Amino acid sequence: MQPHLPAHFLRVSQLAAIAAARATGTGDRHHADELATQAMRTELERTPITGRIVIGEGERDEAPMLYIGEQVGNCAPGTPEIDIAVDPLEGTNLCATGAPNSTAVIAAAPKGGLLNAPDVYMDKIVAGPAAKGRIDIDASTAEHLKVIAESLNREVKDLLVVILERPRHAELIERVRAAGARIELITDGDLAPGIAASLRGTGVHAVIGTGGAPEGVLKAAALRCLGGEIVARLKPAKPGDEERIKAAGYDDPTRVFHTEDLAPSDDIVFCATGVTSGSLLQGVRFFGGGCRTHSLVMTSKSPRMVRFVDEIHLDDDYSGRLRL
Ligand code: FBP
Repeated sequence: MQPHLPAHFLRVSQLAAIAAARATGTGDRHHADELATQAMRTELERTPITGRIVIGEGERDEAPMLYIGEQVGNCAPGTPEIDIAVDPLEGTNLCATGAPNSTAVIAAAPKGGLLNAPDVYMDKIVAGPAAKGRIDIDASTAEHLKVIAESLNREVKDLLVVILERPRHAELIERVRAAGARIELITDGDLAPGIAASLRGTGVHAVIGTGGAPEGVLKAAALRCLGGEIVARLKPAKPGDEERIKAAGYDDPTRVFHTEDLAPSDDIVFCATGVTSGSLLQGVRFFGGGCRTHSLVMTSKSPRMVRFVDEIHLDDDYSGRLRL
């Protein structure tokens, strides 16, 4: 990946976050998502790549922009072929209700470097670098927690596990409680805690449960930069999911995906910008004449970069693009 590209991708996530933040608390999650998607698409057009969306807003017939397979970037002759995974607004409900942890996210890798995962659910266990290579998805929840606790040199009761609050997780929650770990139930947005589990000092040690497969790929891209671990398996849950999985080329429904399967490239760029403030990132703060954003920008290629960026954006420098 050319060294100037992380700065371009950072600008893409920043502008998507700024656009979505205008819809904070409006109660309209679709509008918030549209604002983020439009801003991300526009900024990608300025990015010097010949890009292709591999994880996006859905299939072409259901998403007008940033659909899977869409060509993005300025596509100037000689620009590198880059695969792009996006979630212009991860946690649309969180933004629409002004709740914490909604983010704008983009990951990029040379062609073929990010899995084109079908848009179905995925069972996921996410933990930090210390647990890498030690989690067996088929083991019991108690065993998962024991391994994660041992890897962090602590007891299970000292762990904090983040779980999406969904009826499908009722038994999982009981199992985690029975094992003695602490739980944080979240209403949406399992990407930010998944990243937090790989960062010391955040107080988050694991994220367990069933969520979106596309979010799984984005999480894996972030974890490639941090050395963390995701172990996952596709989970057909809705009518048509099994066909969707087969059509995407996955014949073995029991296949286990590790971080490197979901994000195989050694040359990944990952950027996330906070829309609403949360445990990982602060949200967008507007002031007369501009705004301030907080982002995480990372690269997986040695020497890795893991950088938090606190930036002021002045309207004058953006030709009206910050004023929607
Ligand atoms: P959106 O960004 O589309 O609102 O989804 C956010 C999210 O909470 C993800 O973080 C999570 O993986 C998935 O949705 C869970 O799906 P569901 O809401 O169907 O349980």
